[in-house]
Amino acid sequence: MKVVEKIEELKQLIAQVKTAGKKIGFVPTMGALHAGHFSIIKAAREQTDFVVVSIFVNPAQFGPAEDIDKYPKTLDADTAGCEKLGVDIVFAPTVAGMYPSENLTWVNVEKLTEPLCGRNRPGHFRAVATVCAKLFNIVQPDIAFFGQKDAQQSIVIKQMVSDLNMPLEIIVCPTVREPDGLAMSSRNSYLDTEERKDAVLIYAALKEAELFITAGHRKSSELIGEMEKILKLSSRIKIEYISVLDSRTLEEIEQANGEVLVAIAVKLGQARLIDNIMLNI
Ligand code: PAJ
Repeated sequence: MKVVEKIEELKQLIAQVKTAGKKIGFVPTMGALHAGHFSIIKAAREQTDFVVVSIFVNPAQFGPAEDIDKYPKTLDADTAGCEKLGVDIVFAPTVAGMYPSENLTWVNVEKLTEPLCGRNRPGHFRAVATVCAKLFNIVQPDIAFFGQKDAQQSIVIKQMVSDLNMPLEIIVCPTVREPDGLAMSSRNSYLDTEERKDAVLIYAALKEAELFITAGHRKSSELIGEMEKILKLSSRIKIEYISVLDSRTLEEIEQANGEVLVAIAVKLGQARLIDNIMLNI
């Protein structure tokens, strides 16, 4: 496995891989890798011939109130984990390498970036789409792998790839959870012991929504009310949103029917946590 920092060096290696006719799989990350990332890397390993994992904490996607310096950095453990899984290249560029001068070109995916996290994190998805477009141009993957954990991000990236005729496929992998149901996230490390206990309520609320639908209820406002009751069992949880949406258009729906995305974002201590489930009703 090679750890590559320079874009030019990576491009040369990619050119050789392309000449050899190998199918390139790509997993973009911000590092602090956990079992959620590793499951995506495994999927890439299984489905492609040559796997590139990028580790780049993209400054542009952090808001002014979000402390990028606090974001966990574990490069040695990350590269060791990648090596174990048979990754071919870890691409870990510097900020100056990725943004050598003021960036004047941005990819703005409309509509899909307005609800959910888009409402509370202005400019976030514009920065995510732009850095993914840059990374796709550098790595030139046949398939890029994302996680269902960040459902809106995956939907936005799929739309960008389709709208801009980018020559790659996007595969979305299932959310990996702790044994008690909490979705794995680099930001879980911000939780203290008490907050960590309360964090199980997020997935409990999503499972309650699923049960409520199985019992025949369809009204989104009632579903949201049920989920709210569960989250409010903790005074530490501050709800940012609970939404029931059409999973294709990300429009809020009054009745849960068809492919439905149920999504939650909360603040818990220093952490902002998101989770979701997809239901086919
Ligand atoms: P990061 O948060 O590091 O996540 C990298 C990938 O791992 C994303 O596709 C995310 O959805 C997936 N992931 C995170 N937790 C997961 C879990 N518990 N189960 C399954 N997949 C999980 O998302 C980003 O980085 C950045 O926005 C990025 C796309 C790299 C652009 O900067």
